[in-house]
Amino acid sequence: MNDNLHQLRCFGCGARIAGADAQPHFRCAQCGELFEVEYPGWNQKKGPDRPNAGALKWLWRERRSSLEGVDQSGVWRFRELLPILDSFGNAVTLREGNTPLYHLPRAAQALGMDQLFAKHQGMNPSGSFKDTGMTAALSVAKERGFEWVACASTGNTSAAMAAYAARAGLRSLVLIPEGKIAWGKLSQAMDYGAVTCQLKTDFDGCLSLLTQIVREAPIYLLNSVNPYRLEGQKTPAFEIAEAFDWNLPDHVIVPGGNLGNSSALGKGFREMVELGLVARMPKISVIQAAGANPLARSFAENGGKSLEPVAANTRATAIRIGNPASWRKAAKAIQETGGWCLDVSEGEIAVAKAEIGAEGLGCEPASAVTLAGLKKLRAGGKVAAGDSVVLVLTGHTLKDADYTIDFHKGALLSEEEARGQETQIAGLRRNAVTVEASLQAVLAAMKGTAA
Ligand code: F0G
Repeated sequence: MNDNLHQLRCFGCGARIAGADAQPHFRCAQCGELFEVEYPGWNQKKGPDRPNAGALKWLWRERRSSLEGVDQSGVWRFRELLPILDSFGNAVTLREGNTPLYHLPRAAQALGMDQLFAKHQGMNPSGSFKDTGMTAALSVAKERGFEWVACASTGNTSAAMAAYAARAGLRSLVLIPEGKIAWGKLSQAMDYGAVTCQLKTDFDGCLSLLTQIVREAPIYLLNSVNPYRLEGQKTPAFEIAEAFDWNLPDHVIVPGGNLGNSSALGKGFREMVELGLVARMPKISVIQAAGANPLARSFAENGGKSLEPVAANTRATAIRIGNPASWRKAAKAIQETGGWCLDVSEGEIAVAKAEIGAEGLGCEPASAVTLAGLKKLRAGGKVAAGDSVVLVLTGHTLKDADYTIDFHKGALLSEEEARGQETQIAGLRRNAVTVEASLQAVLAAMKGTAA
């Protein structure tokens, strides 16, 4: 049986092509924009290929008790909404997805809110949200007979790609900016056996070089310009809907780097409305680091109509991206839902990350922009006390342990960066103290005074 029901539509000029006809760099031959996956059968109101909302909700929940790999995956569990493979039996899965949705009681109280949650995508097999996209796009690569896959990365995409490639028995090539990715992520690419090239350029430089390479060699590109990545990354939207019993929260807040994730979640929520699974989309807001804020600038200056690339710099290295590939798709998600795009400072990111740590969850710095952004939205009156809000935490706290240790040692932020937040920082810091191996010394340390 052929499970494949998709085609590709250019996000710029609307031209349609068969999935198999996509160029290896995934840009429209006519206008140069990116593609998105569409499913023509869904448009017929009662056609055999249009999924039935009520039946799906039941089926997806049933699959949670199945012993089959594709059912246990939080991506392929929803496979009726991503029919991109000739056979779902070809799916390469590490049982990704099905990530927890946590209440954030302390942050909620501090913000005078009740309904504040974190969807922790760092609880995926390789420790980031990229696994949900990688299972989808790498399965396509495997099914189409590629031997090599490749990506440019700030670290998490490469970790996820290397893991899935290893599972599938494919070779993988990683291009990363030298010295600008967290060690945890670099170690994963090596552990899973990728050919790892550190280049003397930034992420944007790595991606543009890789685009040239895939035009010349039979290598399958697995960055989020690949529209199949977004099909996997839209599934957390389904999980959020399911967790809220199909009455979506008011607001979902996402970090923004290359802007694939916000685009994917927007697509997921949009498709659920189109198929009658939910009544409306949540507001989608995207938060960037102030040093890597091209979309936030674009929204401040022209409402997201055009984007000027910036030279990016932030310690949240995952989102150190100045020329985001999917900005048009992300802008659409923000605009159509009435969300916002803001930026937050290095100090605000560090404090928010420590606060998420103090909830017993932790996340990597890039994920913490969501809480920092929510504080700004609350202060600006854009989020009400009674609103239900989900922060999408994209990466695990162990991805960038150096950042955490530096914060708690007081070695992360400059005086300038910490200005105005000194009291909060002092309240959050928990430096490891070195004390004598004696009862008195440890008891004294517990009281806050090293002997
Ligand atoms: N959070 C984390 C932890 C990330 O690794 C990334 C992107 C983002 C947020 C931003 O997501 O790019 O879809 O807007 N990391 C990419 C990488 C670029 O190479 O791992 P986005």
